[in-house]
Amino acid sequence: MDPLAIFAPAKINLFLAVTGRRADGFHDLVSVVSQLGFGDTLGIEPAGGFSLTCDDPAVPADESNLVLRAARAFATATNWKGGAKFTLAKRIPAGAGLGGGSSDAVAALRGLNLLAGEPLDGPGLAALAAQLGSDCPLFLHAGPVVMRGRGERITALPANAAPRIRGRRVLVFKPGFGIATPWAYARLAASAPASYVPAAEAEARLAAWIHDDAAPAEALLFNSMEPPAFAKFPALPALVAELRERFGLSPRMSGSGSACFALLEERTDAAPIIAAIRAAWGASASVIETRLT
Ligand code: C5P
Repeated sequence: MDPLAIFAPAKINLFLAVTGRRADGFHDLVSVVSQLGFGDTLGIEPAGGFSLTCDDPAVPADESNLVLRAARAFATATNWKGGAKFTLAKRIPAGAGLGGGSSDAVAALRGLNLLAGEPLDGPGLAALAAQLGSDCPLFLHAGPVVMRGRGERITALPANAAPRIRGRRVLVFKPGFGIATPWAYARLAASAPASYVPAAEAEARLAAWIHDDAAPAEALLFNSMEPPAFAKFPALPALVAELRERFGLSPRMSGSGSACFALLEERTDAAPIIAAIRAAWGASASVIETRLT
């Protein structure tokens, strides 16, 4: 069998309302998530045992990597006795809120399921994905989704709401530092309940995405994880304010950060915006121009 090469896209949260902490320690949320045309590529070829190499030496390629954790979980769940050599071309920055590790894990599950003759159906893959990480299940779906629970309840964004998203130009930019997801959620919990969006308000805001066809996506963007991240890392709100004032953009942070994004009009010249990002955040910043898929 030829080696497989599976695209593992990044994601951004166009809307994210964290509504409260659950008995299991995770948080409930309501989110609108889009995948991007930008991402990692996971090569998979049959081998004895599981191994992983990555072109980015900063990425741990040991058993802590979600690709190998996905492979172990797949083998346990299916009793598959095969193995695979994974080769990860890493493009999605870590600690960004772009779902890179989660997407890689889902690419591994998909690839192994193909290699093994598809022992898992859709619900089987979804159950394994949910075990691996809160952001994994969304990557089993194509197109924009609504995510609820801790991330395991996924529905397609209704068809009337999707056109203002799909194919949109987006600039994604991340400072040289990342934000650890557990830290971001702990900061929210530390200022509870004020930091949580009441569930009814989260659903009302989501309803605008689905029912207010006239509203542009820019007017509906929201992320309740911004305040603690912006308080700790002033470089984030400073650039967001600058991009809003100078270029009329509506930038937002994605997920638990530190990456932010701004939707762009087709006619917009991205060059001066990228120059402003680089001037503010320096050479260690990542800047990616791509599209919502
Ligand atoms: O599921 P994942 O491994 O991405 O979660 C990392 C950490 O982020 C969790 O251990 C938890 O502290 C926090 N988290 C949360 N609620 C979520 C997702 C993540 O509290 N819905």
